[in-house]
Amino acid sequence: SQADLEKKAKHMIDELGSKVYIPGHHYQKDEVIQFAHDKGDSLQLAQISAKNTAAEYIIFCGVHFMAETADILTSEDQKVILPDMRAGCSMADMANLHQLERAWPILQETFGDTIIPMTYVNSTAEIKAFCGKHGGATVTSSNADKMMRWAFTQKKRILFLPDQHLGRNTGAKMGIPLEDMVVWNPIQNKYEGEFSEETKVILWKGHCSVHEKFTIENITSWREKDPEIQILVHPECSYEVVQASDFAGSTQYIIKKIEEAPAGSHWAIGTEMNLVQRLKQDHPELTIHSLNTMMCACLTMNRIDLPHFTYSLEKIIEGDPQNIIKVPKDLAKDAKLALDRMLVQS
Ligand code: 13P
Ligand code: SF4
Repeated sequence: SQADLEKKAKHMIDELGSKVYIPGHHYQKDEVIQFAHDKGDSLQLAQISAKNTAAEYIIFCGVHFMAETADILTSEDQKVILPDMRAGCSMADMANLHQLERAWPILQETFGDTIIPMTYVNSTAEIKAFCGKHGGATVTSSNADKMMRWAFTQKKRILFLPDQHLGRNTGAKMGIPLEDMVVWNPIQNKYEGEFSEETKVILWKGHCSVHEKFTIENITSWREKDPEIQILVHPECSYEVVQASDFAGSTQYIIKKIEEAPAGSHWAIGTEMNLVQRLKQDHPELTIHSLNTMMCACLTMNRIDLPHFTYSLEKIIEGDPQNIIKVPKDLAKDAKLALDRMLVQS
């Protein structure tokens, strides 16, 4: 039963002591996040990994790209474990190295040597390594505007991977007109729309399948039902949704906004379901809804469940750790360049 598994997990964590460290992303299920030594959004988890403990094993409760990042930022002999190898990210899967290497010469031909590649941390180690090798950096939703400003001190144009929405929303927040951003379609290997000498941002056509589910209709419907409602969304939502919302920001921003909200205020939140549910539980003084009543869940985040988590602990204790995420050395070195350019500025 769930209670037995919880007891077993707790016992094994005690037994392992400082040998194991457990970071967890805010989108994780309650049954797993209760065991996290630290909770965070993707920036905080990267920072925590970079400074990390001496723990021999890091059981990463999050998705594959986060575990890769933790491996890149920790020392050679530390082992990062992902409790379920199927915990990927559909957005990270929308940019692969083959597509990027195919696109890059075309972009160079159009714009010359004026482009810096920047990638959301929600990407594979290979994409991060490409950015690192070409002078670029990673960004998270917490520092995207700061990092884009930095990127423009390096080059005239940014190729932003893999989330077109975070790229467009951040560009717009910085005052870049929409017509100065062009979409790159990595499947068809061509531009979608007009580009010109004025183009500032090339947006890789990727998206988050969770955050894309929040719509203008959802916002209109809440505003009609409840005139006091305030709409709070993540910048992985579309440009139209972000524009129609009252507030938009990263996971950390959303949590802070809710923690500081006046008692009695009403909120509809456009982000992953587990986080919205937890905010609702933790803040009975507020009225909190999911912006989309269908409750948008990240299927891959949810693959990390109590049975997989317990299994990871068990295998460490047996001396046969499973699901170790190891980024090849060369790749890790280049990806670290991109991550470090972000971490020194965060
Ligand atoms: P942040 O943790 O940077 O807000 O990103 C949200 C997300 O989609 C993580 O996969
Ligand atoms: Fe990827 Fe979206 Fe899930 Fe985050 S919420 S892990 S971006 S699919």
